[in-house]
Amino acid sequence: MKRSHAVLVTGGAGYVGAHVVLALREAGWHVIVLDNLSTGRLLPLHRDCSVVIGDVADRALVAATLARYDVTAVVHLAASIVAPASIRNPLAYYRNNVAGSISLLEACVEHGISAFVLSSTAAVYGVPVVSPVAEDAPAEPINPYGWSKLMSERVLRDAAAAHDLPFLILRYFNVAGADPHGRAGPSQAGPAHLLKVAIEAALGRRADVPIYGNDYPTTDGTCVRDFIHVSDLAAAHVAGLDYLLGGGPSTVLNCGYGRGYSVREVLATVERVAGRRIATRLAPRRPGDPPEVVADAERIRILLGWQPRFDDLENIVAHSLAWLRRSEPVLATS
Ligand SMILES: NC(=O)c1ccc[n+]([C@@H]2O[C@H](COP(=O)([O-])OP(=O)(O)OC[C@H]3O[C@@H](n4cnc5c(N)ncnc54)[C@H](O)[C@@H]3O)[C@@H](O)[C@H]2O)c1
Repeated sequence: MKRSHAVLVTGGAGYVGAHVVLALREAGWHVIVLDNLSTGRLLPLHRDCSVVIGDVADRALVAATLARYDVTAVVHLAASIVAPASIRNPLAYYRNNVAGSISLLEACVEHGISAFVLSSTAAVYGVPVVSPVAEDAPAEPINPYGWSKLMSERVLRDAAAAHDLPFLILRYFNVAGADPHGRAGPSQAGPAHLLKVAIEAALGRRADVPIYGNDYPTTDGTCVRDFIHVSDLAAAHVAGLDYLLGGGPSTVLNCGYGRGYSVREVLATVERVAGRRIATRLAPRRPGDPPEVVADAERIRILLGWQPRFDDLENIVAHSLAWLRRSEPVLATS
């Protein structure tokens, strides 16, 4: 079957999406970005794409876009992503993430898409009993955001079984870093992830960094997470499309390095790379924060032949720092 080289990237104006767009462009894809700009923003890199401003839930718009560009593959990143906000406003999260995915999938099935990649998250594991956590570990989210992603996974699996829709579910661990060439990076206004908060403190844009609990059963008592460089993550999407279009069976893949860093290790690395001391403040544990979340990351390397290029915390910090240093400070969100 002859296929076009057109891929629709929903949420392509967001943090991860912009890097996915760069990687797909570099691999020769014609990229069509669909984004409602609720949290994302257009960057100069988007000039190399076709951009459609609109909502994934706008089924007529999606259908028209798939037809107009003769789209072969879809990478679905558009979502609401702030876990605490999902607890306060669950229905908005289910509407945007689950109902939005259903509407998008209806259009994809109707059009006959050859490959569908869904952005999912380690949040579907909730509090993992075992770490590193493998793809077949129990999925028990602890907030509506995690549930909305797990539900989207379920909807995709069932739709794919009924309608012959090859798919990959990519469960990202802690995404961090920025494009090494400075073309994209974390949004100033986005969620307050540890690394970004630490860099903001190193840049003098925050007074200090809260450490939520120092009595966890980890090497130094602080939580341990698996940080994946956003450009390596983006490359996994390109490899994933090649895999599916080459006939690889649909599956779910963890996206992480299989190596964890504690909060204190992250802070020490930021201090070293930035050459600045960071003030910290001990705060109570946050409910539901697991001591350690590290990916069992074997499957993605084996199935996709994925080889990370930036799996080093100093790289991640240096690239984020370079991006955030150049960005205008905005009011911090919690
Ligand atoms: N950043 C992380 O650490 C992380 C971790 C795990 C999973 N993820 C997943 O990665 C994906 C991208 O996250 P991100 O960090 O880039 O977030 P982001 O907020 O920067 O990007 C989301 C993008 O989707 C757009 N969007 C949201 N709802 C939309 C809709 N209904 N229609 C069209 N566009 C819409 C936003 O404008 C934004 O550009 C999400 O699906 C998220 O669940 C992110």
